Amino acid sequence: MGLILFHVSRPCTSSPAVMLYLVRTSILASATRNLIVMIGGPNYKLPLGRIDSLVSQATSVEGKLARVNDTKIPKSRLQRPRNVCISWSGHNIGFVHCKEFANRIFAKPDPTMNPKLVAIDSEGSFLDVITPGTFDNMLFKNLMNGLGVLGSVQLLLSDPRTRPFVEKYAKDNLAFSADFARAMEKLNVYKVKVDNQGEVRRRCDAPNTSRK
Ligand code: HEM
Repeated sequence: MGLILFHVSRPCTSSPAVMLYLVRTSILASATRNLIVMIGGPNYKLPLGRIDSLVSQATSVEGKLARVNDTKIPKSRLQRPRNVCISWSGHNIGFVHCKEFANRIFAKPDPTMNPKLVAIDSEGSFLDVITPGTFDNMLFKNLMNGLGVLGSVQLLLSDPRTRPFVEKYAKDNLAFSADFARAMEKLNVYKVKVDNQGEVRRRCDAPNTSRK
């Protein structure tokens, strides 16, 4: 869901086909934000009209994204520990398949995991095992009790630089909501491309030049 938000809105043009597309993509961005609000999360400003990049390569992503089985938080990301906590906090709703946390429950169970959670034996789990359908700070409370399902999220408690934020958000849902909303607003206007730096893609999954 968070990743959809990076790509969803495009500027208006006079082509009816593109306008139809615009409507659809803007609806996706708005629907994501509205869903968050409907299930108890914060409202935030959502400027529409981003254009896409001219280049899109899987190789440029490798090594830059966190992984669910990371065993430590990369040093580069720890310059902004609050951002690390907020980006993983999107996992306070939704579902995760077993393969993403199997390494924590089989063979040698992860000692930071609550034994009740280790006992999960199913095809998957809710990411927030207590209030999976509510957008709230329960994920942080869960971490304090060893109830983080993804190893990389549970790491937020073990690392001394992110731990203060986990403790703060676990105690204060309003502070969490405010920081989440602010982060989403900043993300929505991060590195916006203008003029010939980008384009309105005919298909969202590839630059127009690769489909001529
Ligand atoms: C490096 C960044 C991220 C990684 C590696 C990651 C990884 C994952 C994984 C492995 C799942 C489970 C998928 C499955 O088993 O089907 C998942 C689900 C989910 N993620 Fe992320 N995620 C990232 C960033 C985000 C962000 C920034 C948000 C929101 C702000 C987010 C929101 C969600 C939600 C809502 C689900 C549940 C989807 C569902 O129920 O179908 N994720 N993520």
